[in-house]
Amino acid sequence: MPSRSWFSKALLPWYTGNKRDLPWRNTADPYRIWLSEVILQQTRVDQGLAYWQRFVRRWPAIADLAAASEDEVLKEWQGLGYYSRARNLRVGALQVIQEHEGTFPRSHAGLLKLKGVGDYTAAAIASICFDQAEAVVDGNVYRVLSRVFGIVTPIDSSEGKRVFKMLASELLSKEHPGDHNQAVMELGATVCTPRNPDCTACPLLGLCIAQKEGRIALLPVKSKKQVVRIRHFNYLVIPSAKGLWMRQRKGKDIWQGLWELPMLETERSATSSVLLELVRKSLRTTSAAPWSVKKTGLPVEHLLSHQRIIATFWACEPVGQWRSPDEWKMVSPKELKKLAVHRLMERWMEKA
Ligand code: ADE
Repeated sequence: MPSRSWFSKALLPWYTGNKRDLPWRNTADPYRIWLSEVILQQTRVDQGLAYWQRFVRRWPAIADLAAASEDEVLKEWQGLGYYSRARNLRVGALQVIQEHEGTFPRSHAGLLKLKGVGDYTAAAIASICFDQAEAVVDGNVYRVLSRVFGIVTPIDSSEGKRVFKMLASELLSKEHPGDHNQAVMELGATVCTPRNPDCTACPLLGLCIAQKEGRIALLPVKSKKQVVRIRHFNYLVIPSAKGLWMRQRKGKDIWQGLWELPMLETERSATSSVLLELVRKSLRTTSAAPWSVKKTGLPVEHLLSHQRIIATFWACEPVGQWRSPDEWKMVSPKELKKLAVHRLMERWMEKA
């Protein structure tokens, strides 16, 4: 097998001279590296940086995070999306404290046992903190490698996952695995970007097959088209002198653990009579006279990675006796500020 050390030889000096000065690059504390990698998995550095800083200020050590409540961690995560990351971080921190006496496992296999830590995060922590030769493969790595080596195997196929993992492992510098991994990701994040990559600034210019063959825009290849599910959420705004009725989302769905207005989901866009019937059923209203419900404003669209939420906000006027479901909570304006809410709710609160 021909040596592929040219890759790392070109990349490492470039990384040393061009890497962004980020606070987690000045530490080998696995807790802080872990936090940065979890944030950066689905968030850009410019947005994620402030969150990382707030987290380490509030919870400087892993024991501090382990002692926090899920509500507190979700509130600090508010706005970043993919909230299972925050819930898992807290559980993972508890595991390190309770099962490892506060010391991070050093091996890839040991790291994989932590909640929410998959192959990517385990390889990142093992290489960056413990100098272990574990190659990371994330979206940046797929993009860089598919272009440099002109690989057309779809990155979302099991064959693609195998091919790219093997190549990344072959290329990895065994002397500087942490810097090597970060260098590939840094190149993907700052130079070899999805659109309009800055090939003139690339240390692999001249070695890149896609660049030579004019195939940059065609790589990487994905086989599946993303299916987006459309959902209709009807939010109930029920006035009260004391505050606002809110509820915490439970169960295996988006936004688990976050707060929102009481919501009734419908198959399609609801008319007021459909909504009234739903309200009657779910609230056990006793009055013969129906509530009045009125749409406020236009529906709001909220895009997630696999779902398009169409949210309608209904101003409700209760009539007669009714019982709020047990999971609803009357929240004062002051308390409301302390609840972790999702971005859609935050947008509504900003306007209302
Ligand atoms: N994206 C995710 N992790 C990264 C890292 N450590 N360096 C650069 N980009 C990244």
